[in-house]
Amino acid sequence: MIAEGKRPELEHPFKGNMDVVALEELILARGAQNIPVVFVTITNNSGGGQPVSLANLRAVRAVCDKYDLPLFLDGCRFAENAWFIHEREEGQQDRSIVDIVRDIGALADGMTMSAKKDGMANIGGWLAMNDDALAVQCRNMLILTEGFPTYGGLAGRDLEAIAQGLAEVVDPNYLRYRIRSTAYLADALSAAGVPVVRPAGGHAVYLDARSLLSHIPPLQYPGQALATALYLQGGIRGCEIGTVMFGRQPDGSEIPAAMDLVRLAIPRRTYTQSHIDYVIEVVTWVAERASELKGMRIVDEPPALRHFTARFGPL
Ligand SMILES: Cc1ncc(COP(=O)(O)O)c(C=O)c1O
Repeated sequence: MIAEGKRPELEHPFKGNMDVVALEELILARGAQNIPVVFVTITNNSGGGQPVSLANLRAVRAVCDKYDLPLFLDGCRFAENAWFIHEREEGQQDRSIVDIVRDIGALADGMTMSAKKDGMANIGGWLAMNDDALAVQCRNMLILTEGFPTYGGLAGRDLEAIAQGLAEVVDPNYLRYRIRSTAYLADALSAAGVPVVRPAGGHAVYLDARSLLSHIPPLQYPGQALATALYLQGGIRGCEIGTVMFGRQPDGSEIPAAMDLVRLAIPRRTYTQSHIDYVIEVVTWVAERASELKGMRIVDEPPALRHFTARFGPL
């Protein structure tokens, strides 16, 4: 991620952009032969739901071509990313969302998709790639693990829902409403003095727990402390994206993550403005009492992806 993406308060149109200089340095340090694929997540979830520009995707593509590496997209929020390109990238304002999506797709060799996001479905997703031989291998693996290629473990009605969702998600009226309602929450919290990642992300508002709970050191998980307080006070279910998620190193030691955030992800077409106003009230109430919150410790954690199932206790 570019350096601007690690500064929550900084306004920047494409904070999800990949740092292409760092990418090239990493490829040289590890050796291209040891890197199976380059992945770009659109929009960048762990960086605050921030978009990636077409220009940046082209630059990443050029690095991939130079080292003969495939470029894959984690495209689960491709439509929200395309909307931000439409709104913010030079020369894109008169283009259709569908055309922008096609441009994004043409730059990649493949994609993963969680259709629970911009597929607008309850379940499902897909893995897509241009390499036919690799696709055959993946299909064979799919039969062993989930189901026949034509349904991939999904019920027919779920495939229908995804097909319909993909048609609806690129509707500019829907996208305008969607991105605006997320910004409504971020703007209200900013106005109330609550530090949030600026500008608002596409699918979520990210509270800057490190800044709000500056008395709690990162290794005492300020993001987890804030997420817990929001749940206890108002039943608001957010998720820590910070040192719990990224702090543990392969050797078992811990270092602070680049940021300690709490993600308030907003389900599509679910909440009314009064629900969001309730969230604003609760977050503001908790933020006013931030100095009373204490850090947390991990009671037990799994060997991998600990943020999903670790258990915590108060310090
Ligand atoms: C960027 C991104 N990729 C992938 C996933 C995983 O999706 P799923 O739970 O459908 O596997 C998520 C889930 O939140 C996500 O945000």
